[in-house]
Amino acid sequence: MKVIKDIREMQSISNALKKEGKIIGFVPTMGFLHKGHISLITESKKKSDVTVVSIYVNPTQFSPSEDFEKYPRDFKSDENLCINAGVDIVFYPNGDYMYSDEHKTFVITEELSTKLCGISRPEHFRGVTTIVAKLFNIVNPNIAVFGQKDAQQSIIIKKMVEDLNFDIDIIIVPIVREVDGLALSSRNKYLSEKHRKDAPTIYSALTKAKDLIKEGEKQSRNILDFINKTLLSVPDLKIDYVSIVNMQNFEKVETIGTNTLIAVAVYFDSTRLIDNILIN
Ligand code: PAJ
Repeated sequence: MKVIKDIREMQSISNALKKEGKIIGFVPTMGFLHKGHISLITESKKKSDVTVVSIYVNPTQFSPSEDFEKYPRDFKSDENLCINAGVDIVFYPNGDYMYSDEHKTFVITEELSTKLCGISRPEHFRGVTTIVAKLFNIVNPNIAVFGQKDAQQSIIIKKMVEDLNFDIDIIIVPIVREVDGLALSSRNKYLSEKHRKDAPTIYSALTKAKDLIKEGEKQSRNILDFINKTLLSVPDLKIDYVSIVNMQNFEKVETIGTNTLIAVAVYFDSTRLIDNILIN
């Protein structure tokens, strides 16, 4: 497995691979890899000849009050996980090198980026779309794999690719969970033992809500009441939002039909966790 730190080198390797007719699969990450990331790598390997994983904690998607500095980093462990998962190339740029002091260009996917997580994190998706666009231009992949865990991010990336004519297929893979249902996340390591024990309630509230819908409850307001009540019974848990929205445009829906996303963001102290479930 090659580790590439230089942008030009990554670009020329990709160009050479493309000339040989190789299909390049790409998995962008911020590192501190877990089984969720590995499932993206596995999917990329199935659909491509060469899999590139980027590891870069992107400063522009964190607000000044967020956890950019303390975001967990462990390159050695990430490198080993990538070797074991059969990754071909890790793109691991130096922090200061991705944005020059003169950086002035940002990519914004309007409307979609101001809803759900965009309400409490107004600059977040501007940072995500900008870095993903940069990475797409550096890695030049044929396909790129994202996780349903970050449902809003995945839809926004799809929209950016469509609007800006990137010739890249976006693949979205299901959420990987711990045995108790908690969605795997690099941020789970911030949770205290007590909060870690309580956190699976997020997913159990979502699955019970899905059961209620299957049993015939179609009014979003009743489902929202149920999820809010369940979450508020957890000590120390603060709700950022619970929303029932159309999966494509994130507009709130009153009556639950197909293509509905139930999305949740909560805090345990300053640790922000997100989860979601699709109703098809
Ligand atoms: P990061 O949080 O490292 O996630 C990288 C990819 O892994 C994302 O597509 C995310 O949805 C996926 N992922 C995370 N946890 C998952 C889980 N439990 N199951 C399935 N997939 C999971 O998302 C980012 O990094 C950044 O915003 C990035 C796109 C790299 C831009 O900086």
